[in-house]
Amino acid sequence: MKYLAPDSQDLSTLLPEIPVLLMGSGPVPVPHEVAKANTIVISHLGDTMKKVVSRVQLMAQYVFQTKTSKIFGISGPSSAGMEMAVSSLLWPGRKVLVLNLGTFSARFAEMARSLGAEVQEIFPKGMAPIYVDQVKDILEKESFDVLTIVQGETSCGVKNIYLQDIVALAKNFGLLTIVDAVCTLSTMPLPMDEWGIDIVFVGGQKGLSAVPGISLIAFSESTFDFVSARTQPMPHWCLDPRRAYKFWGLGEYHYTAPVTGILAIHEGLRLICEETLEARFERHLKCSTTLQRSLEAMGFSLFTPEEFRLNSVVAINNLPNVKTKELISLLIKECHLEISGAFGLDIIRVGQMGEQCRYENIQRVLLGLAHGYSKFGHHLDLESGLQVFNKFRSEG
Ligand SMILES: Cc1ncc(COP(=O)(O)O)c(C=O)c1O
Repeated sequence: MKYLAPDSQDLSTLLPEIPVLLMGSGPVPVPHEVAKANTIVISHLGDTMKKVVSRVQLMAQYVFQTKTSKIFGISGPSSAGMEMAVSSLLWPGRKVLVLNLGTFSARFAEMARSLGAEVQEIFPKGMAPIYVDQVKDILEKESFDVLTIVQGETSCGVKNIYLQDIVALAKNFGLLTIVDAVCTLSTMPLPMDEWGIDIVFVGGQKGLSAVPGISLIAFSESTFDFVSARTQPMPHWCLDPRRAYKFWGLGEYHYTAPVTGILAIHEGLRLICEETLEARFERHLKCSTTLQRSLEAMGFSLFTPEEFRLNSVVAINNLPNVKTKELISLLIKECHLEISGAFGLDIIRVGQMGEQCRYENIQRVLLGLAHGYSKFGHHLDLESGLQVFNKFRSEG
């Protein structure tokens, strides 16, 4: 039978003629080197792939700031990384303490419940991060096996500023810790070994400025040994780290690895290593600060108090009578610019991860927002915003 397509036009007819600048909560724009690598298909087994994998692991050790050799790529979104972490450490009879700041923190609890583990959640007191004393109060009363924490809760723009102390506390009480660094890794410090974190995971599409659909996860050596020794069956075949080790440790077949994604992530990591983490953290901080101060000068207010504001995804209060969905569509259509809305909050979110942290991209956001909101009757002070922007840019 002949396939009768509605028309036989290729993909280019579906894509916008002028590319849309991705300034939302991810995916983010990718550098040329990543885009190029992502077009190459090689065999997933054999010498070339082995060399690629070992370089990816070496560079990931630098980016995760760890010496562990148990770093695996996952063919899947960051949530698959979360699922590998959670299902490795939890099963019926095990207890997890979930620090819940919003949508992504809550995903840990959902996954843990579906594994039959006992789940307790801690919520912030109002608009706040989770405080060390809140965790301590619970740990003194009850025992747990695992603690989960998101470094940056992208959904509301809050950073867990006490992460290091909370992880140290959890260790003192004998818990294993899982950190979601999906929107933060390589944008701000997260020294896995120094802070004693047991598992960290990240997706390709945010700070690494690589592509969506491939994730990286690092297990400390002792945590991997613990998982290797467990006798309970693993609920997921693809997400079993012991099976992943066959490919990532021994170069043998597990499943057909996502070769284009691995090559793309190789390039993403390589560019981070070339830039160095210190310079990258500084670039992220400067760019995000420039964005925030410029937005305020234009007349916006920021949703999250500065003390625990997440720099990598900036949450901005929406203005009256503006439907964020309509604003977002308008910006895509008229400014070729994408920003994000939020899950139930009346905010818009602008990302500052990887390639988003370039002055020319920030300027496009300021111009775009002034244009977009003017269509809803809000005349923002673009001149003042650009003055602040230019001042920050000239200071480098
Ligand atoms: C902090 C955080 N964790 C987890 C996720 C889930 O990532 P993915 O959609 O790649 O599964 C996201 C996505 O935005 C995130 O921001």
